[in-house]
Amino acid sequence: MSEPIRVVVTGAAGQIAYSLLYIIAKGDVFGPNQPLILHLLDIPPMMGVLEGVVMELADCALPLLHGVVPTADPAEAFKDVSAAFLVGAMPRKQGMERKDLLSANVKIFKVQGEALDQHAKKDVKVLVVGNPANTNALVCAKYAPSIPKENFTAMTRLDQNRAQAQIAAKTGVPVANVSNVIIWGNHSSTQVPDASFAKVVKGGKTLSASEAVNNDAWLQNEFIETVQKRGAAVIAARKMSSAMSAAKAAGDHMRSWFLGTEPGKYVSMGVLSDGSYDTPKDVVFSFPVTIENGKWQIVKGLQIGDHYRQLLEATGKELVEERAEAFAIIEA
Ligand SMILES: NC(=O)c1ccc[n+]([C@@H]2O[C@H](COP(=O)([O-])OP(=O)(O)OC[C@H]3O[C@@H](n4cnc5c(N)ncnc54)[C@H](O)[C@@H]3O)[C@@H](O)[C@H]2O)c1
Repeated sequence: MSEPIRVVVTGAAGQIAYSLLYIIAKGDVFGPNQPLILHLLDIPPMMGVLEGVVMELADCALPLLHGVVPTADPAEAFKDVSAAFLVGAMPRKQGMERKDLLSANVKIFKVQGEALDQHAKKDVKVLVVGNPANTNALVCAKYAPSIPKENFTAMTRLDQNRAQAQIAAKTGVPVANVSNVIIWGNHSSTQVPDASFAKVVKGGKTLSASEAVNNDAWLQNEFIETVQKRGAAVIAARKMSSAMSAAKAAGDHMRSWFLGTEPGKYVSMGVLSDGSYDTPKDVVFSFPVTIENGKWQIVKGLQIGDHYRQLLEATGKELVEERAEAFAIIEA
């Protein structure tokens, strides 16, 4: 057994964290031989609820969980952490404009960026889940100048998992037989689920998604829309937003980042754009990436069809607008 690593989860009294903490603490993310100490950050009014979560974690009797630090103090929460799940954010309330939401969240992610900068390990891997996740990740990176920019990522893995599940259902294969579906751009309704390079293993053969689905119109329209609107569909049915699936995706994202991707396979992550595929530079844009030794690399050289190129432009434009709004708020 190695030494325990410290892992922080923010929004620790919230609904995503309620599933995520168990996934992390039982070893699904960092592996079955990696003990950990969980740091749980939430806001002062939630400390009572958080105490209940701490009791339940103890009652799970998890062998890998060597300690729990519940706190409302970002300095304590981020102290010496190797991995950070930034889940906590101000939820959109009825009547709230996008600008109001951005304004509340930009401030949270500025404070947390500064706390990471001062207290976390310099190789900390940061995953932003709280919305607007891409722009929050950009703000956080900006206020943590002593930590490499590539250590800040945003979650589009839930969108990827949703896309994979749609194709599996359509082709009648288990979800593990579908790979290399891409999510481009923003984690918002402008995201671009793209199955052009996806593979489906069916009847012992590896097919392209186009061959396996045998309905390109579906792949270019209904499939994209279903994935884009899946979050809203879950809210309509459950009266609460996706939490179990968001937690699973956050675990998947961090596990891929720590333990790497399989040969020939890639995953989607919001990362700082280097302008690949004519996307705007210096926004956090979701790309297909491969990961080795804890370092991600954007998959290069894919031939993007005209249909998708237009969609990529629109989601890139939205990210540029969000960035301008976010920094206007900070600099005001
Ligand atoms: N990227 C994705 O795919 C994805 C998917 C689902 C949800 N989300 C987002 O994840 C976030 C959390 O969702 P949830 O369902 O767990 O919400 P929730 O409201 O149940 O929990 C959020 C928690 O964050 C806490 N919080 C608020 N401000 C904080 C701060 N400054 N520091 C620490 N904690 C703070 C709240 O007190 C609350 O306990 C939301 O922004 C949601 O939109 C993202």
